[in-house]
Amino acid sequence: MADPGSRAGERYATPQILDYAARTHHPEDAGLSRAFDAPARHGMPEIQLGPAEGRFLEILLRLTHATKVVEIGTLAGYSALWMARALPPRGHLWTIESDPGHAEVAAEVVGEAGFGDRVTIIRDKASEVLPELSDSGPFCAVFLDADKGSYDLYGRWATDNLRPGGLLIGDNAYLFGRLLDDTDEAKAMRRFHEEMSSNYRSVCLPTPDGLAVGVRLDPKA
Ligand code: SAH
Ligand code: DHB
Ligand code: MG
Repeated sequence: MADPGSRAGERYATPQILDYAARTHHPEDAGLSRAFDAPARHGMPEIQLGPAEGRFLEILLRLTHATKVVEIGTLAGYSALWMARALPPRGHLWTIESDPGHAEVAAEVVGEAGFGDRVTIIRDKASEVLPELSDSGPFCAVFLDADKGSYDLYGRWATDNLRPGGLLIGDNAYLFGRLLDDTDEAKAMRRFHEEMSSNYRSVCLPTPDGLAVGVRLDPKA
């Protein structure tokens, strides 16, 4: 983003360039490839992160030395596997998935990749389980990728349950292009952004659908 065209939204990446960059920086191992392909194999929606976004999550968690991480929205476990790779042996990821079929596929994918002991898949609606999950905190990072109309609630839970310096990350922060609409879902997503900006040092990266990333400020500072 270094000239007027790209600042206005123009992109230089072609599919070939994206492919070259991905192959060069993070050639996928067998476990990750299997996880990426799992939604298609099982007739599930193919709405997992892109490989570069997954790698970015891994890097963010490594930078913060994350040991305890929460994900809301597991699907088939692709983003969960990227994050699990960043954890030390005693680290743990709790990932919440309300669709029993998705959770079953994710358990298989995560187990096959050898991360079964570091990942707990919670099979329930996030709003049902978050209150009791607080007992396992405080957490080092929270990644939101489930129902977009609840990001404001999930963001507030993260703010109450992250350690200072912890990370809040939200996928689909542009709400598929509907962020500025006059709907309850868009209003909730905008509240998520605005409350994040108050309690975090934050940015919304221009990935295809926006990736909001913030570092929890110390409420006592
Ligand atoms: N993070 C995944 C993609 C998640 S897709 C990846 O990148 O690999 C969104 C998932 O959220 C779907 O599997 C959907 O079933 C789940 N979901 C939707 N609403 C939910 C809720 N209220 N609680 C928990 N999971 C939910
Ligand atoms: C959908 C959900 C996502 O998290 C995503 O990244 C893309 C699409 C969806 O529900 O359609
Ligand atoms: Mg998403």
